[in-house]
Formats: sequence, structure tokens, C-alpha cells
Amino acid sequence: MSSMKSKLKSNIIDNLDEEYYQISTDILSSFPKFRPPLDLFIFKEETTQIQLLKKKGDRMDKDEQERVAELCKEGNIFVARSDHAVYSKHIAKQLDLVLVDENLKEAEIAEIFCYALTDRIAEFMEQPVKAVFTQIYNDLMVLTEYLWEDRNRIKSLVRRLHTDEHSLAKHSYNTGALGLWLFGRMHPGGINRRIYDKAALALFLHDMGMGKIPAFIRDKDKPLTQDERSKVNMHPLLGSKIALKLGLKFDEMQQCVMEHHERLDGSGYPGKIKDVSPLGAICAVADSYSAMISKRPYAEAMEPLAAAKELGQATKAYDAKATKLLLEAVVTNRW
Ligand SMILES: [Fe+2]
Ligand SMILES: [Fe+2]
Repeated sequence: MSSMKSKLKSNIIDNLDEEYYQISTDILSSFPKFRPPLDLFIFKEETTQIQLLKKKGDRMDKDEQERVAELCKEGNIFVARSDHAVYSKHIAKQLDLVLVDENLKEAEIAEIFCYALTDRIAEFMEQPVKAVFTQIYNDLMVLTEYLWEDRNRIKSLVRRLHTDEHSLAKHSYNTGALGLWLFGRMHPGGINRRIYDKAALALFLHDMGMGKIPAFIRDKDKPLTQDERSKVNMHPLLGSKIALKLGLKFDEMQQCVMEHHERLDGSGYPGKIKDVSPLGAICAVADSYSAMISKRPYAEAMEPLAAAKELGQATKAYDAKATKLLLEAVVTNRW
């Protein structure tokens, strides 16, 4: 392509950016071969316009596949941004694609992470076994790989906290994203990558013991009986056992799983300990806030500001630096 032509093309593509994105060969090759899961568009150089090439689900024979692959290599294959939901769901199944896709915007990537991680955590909570753990582990490592390039990117995940009907998976996403943001803010000097990875795993999976608590107790909309309460209070211990069984023997995991309901004044559970680890204290703040802002079976959702204020006032129970950072971010709406 001549340089003038290529400049013209890139100008046009910039203008089209709001409506379409160019897809990379990695993405194209991840689609089912014979039937694209969404409409494919082609950039026609002669008319300098985007045209529909293949409708969603239309069969492509081998020759067509090769032709589309070639066009894609040249940067001429596009999908509509209005198909973002389909595209996100597709990428969510193979999350490492977000690392190679240069055409997704940060907000779109955050949405994909939110969707994918929440889904994967739900699967893991249902079945906390090695095979399912490996999937959520891989996805969380894609997340830390993505965040490691620019740790500010966590903000766009925090902007997507779930506030609708509570579920264990949504709560886990919220606590993980917010906890990781707090963790970054509390360590402005720098973090070791291995520790960052471990903290991410531990924060997102802090409630893995909850999956073992019968759903009728977890979802109960009335106050728990003493017996039910003591069952729920077992979930940190159950989580710790699951973590060890899965070979997750690092301190960060034990701290988040065991300490997220401990309080600095010794009023928490299960150990009523006061010397909570720094990561355990971060997890506690993230956990409480994420529970408060979502609609739970037994309580309405609180406004973010009211929740952050309440935590900020509980100075004896929660880490003051963490609650201050949280309140500042909520007040200024700057994560
Ligand atoms: Fe918990
Ligand atoms: Fe929790």
C-alpha cells in the first residue's frame, strides 16, 4: 500500500474507531473457524468504507477462511463496537487475548475482566477443586500481567464494582478489585511482582470457605440463629483448609482467608486476634465495604459514601489509613 493510501486509511480508521474495532489475527483465530460468533466487516480501500463481510453464524468455507485471515493480517477486518457484549463474552473465555488485543479500550478491558472473573469465581466457589482453581488462577495471572504494566489500571476495575443483588462471586470480585487498589495505594514505594500476584489471588479468593456453607444459610433474609451463625463463622477456617488442600501455602492467602473478619480491637472472628497482618487488614476493609454497597438478603445496599464514612468512623476496628484512602476516593470519585 502506498504511504498516502495508508495514511488515508489510518485517518478513516481513527474516525471509525467509535463504531468499529479492527481485530487482530490472534482474536480472529480464536473464533470458531467456520462460523464467526459476530458480524465481520471489511474495510474497502476502493471506496474507503466499511462493509459487512460475513454475518454472525454464516458459514465460511476453507478458502473464505484463508481470505479473511489474509485480510485480517493486513488490518482490514473489523467488528462493530455495538457487538461488544458478544465480543467480551468470547474473550472472557480466553482471557489472555486481552493482552494481545491492541484495539480494546481500557474501559472495555475492565468490563471483560469484571465479567470473566466474576464468572470464573462462581465456578470455583461451586467446585473448589484443583481443575477449576487452575482456570481462575490463570485468569488472575492475566489480570496481574495486565496491571503490572500500569498499576493505575486497577481503577477502571474498581469503577465496575457490583452493586446489584449480592452473590458470593460478585462480592469476591468487589473485594479483590478494591483490595488490590488499596494494596497498591498502601505500598506506593513499589511492590514485588510475586507478592502482587499472591495478594491478588488471596484477595479475590478470600471467601473460598463460604462455598461450603449451605446456600439456605448464606441467602437467608432473616437474622441467623446461633447455630447458623456459628456455621458461618467457620468459613475462614474452612477456606484455610481448602487453600492448603489446593497447595496454596503462602502467607498472603492465609492472611486474607483467615483474617478478613478479624478486627483490630479483637472484636472479630474466628480468632478474635488484634495483631492482624497488613494484608488481612486491607482485605477486611475491602470485604466490609463491598458487602455494604450491595443488596444483601438481609439488608439493603448502602450508598458508597455512607458505607465509606461508617468504616472511617470505626477507627478501633479497621485500619485507619486504608479507610481514609477509601473515603477520599469515594468523596472525590477519583480512584
Ligand atoms: Fe468472609
Ligand atoms: Fe468476604
